[in-house]
Amino acid sequence: MEFKNLILEKVENVAIVKINRIEKMNALNSETIDELEIIFTELNKDENVDAIVLTGNGEKAFVAGADIKELNKMDVISGQIMSEKGQKVFSLIENLSKPVIAAVNGYALGGGCELAMSCHFRYASENAVFGQPEVNLGIIPGYGGTQRMARLINHGRAMEFILTGDMIKSDEALRIGLVNKVFPKEELLEQTIKTAKKIASKGQIAVTMSIKAVNATKEISLEDGLKYEASLFGLCCGTQDFMEGTTAFLEKREAKFVKR
Ligand code: COA
Repeated sequence: MEFKNLILEKVENVAIVKINRIEKMNALNSETIDELEIIFTELNKDENVDAIVLTGNGEKAFVAGADIKELNKMDVISGQIMSEKGQKVFSLIENLSKPVIAAVNGYALGGGCELAMSCHFRYASENAVFGQPEVNLGIIPGYGGTQRMARLINHGRAMEFILTGDMIKSDEALRIGLVNKVFPKEELLEQTIKTAKKIASKGQIAVTMSIKAVNATKEISLEDGLKYEASLFGLCCGTQDFMEGTTAFLEKREAKFVKR
């Protein structure tokens, strides 16, 4: 896979995707959005990849938002199309069968904060800065920010965040639950890869089913969610990995999962 604005690296069965427009603070132009769609579609099919880390190249930015130069040319129709395209790609990430962890290594503003929120969970460096500054530009978050922020953190806090456009540092992001862990910047990637490897060592069918079940809570009632959980649980019980995992426990040895 050849990309202009992305770097793909692999460490064992973990893929590391780096957004690479350093001179523009890794801002998401339409070309980068297209490339994200391609890379995540491909990685989802790649049998040698069991977990993905998404980060920004360089030391300053994860992603400093949608590309404002492109935004500046939008009208009513093209703006809606742009928003829908970004939403589609971010939903692809959110609903990927494989875990995607954001390693937020600097500015995560606008589309960058939205991209991080579409990952399954987030780690951040001490120098990370989060914000939805769209109101400063006369727009609202258009890549899912109004929806995911209010689901991820406290409703009133999400409202304050989006209405003021204020930026917060990683310690505050940790406090409000926007990120799970904060690391010194030189440790962030290594620690995120470590967690990705840990998840990648588990039964991968169970990991996929877990993502589906937890994601479903955003859309369905508790009653329907419990039915869905039971059906996915049943599916897991029909896999070789289930037999291997439970047998390995009983035989006091490590499980060797086969993704079947
Ligand atoms: N879109 C397009 N270009 C962007 C960008 C964006 N979202 N964010 C940064 N850039 C560009 C700058 O225009 C500048 O380009 P130039 O060197 O050609 O002038 C370059 O990246 C470096 O940014 P600069 O502003 O000089 O760096 P800084 O360290 O002073 O400030 C930020 C960093 C992130 C605080 C600042 O760039 C910023 O506020 N960016 C916009 C954030 C935003 O509103 N995002 C939401 C968009 S919907």
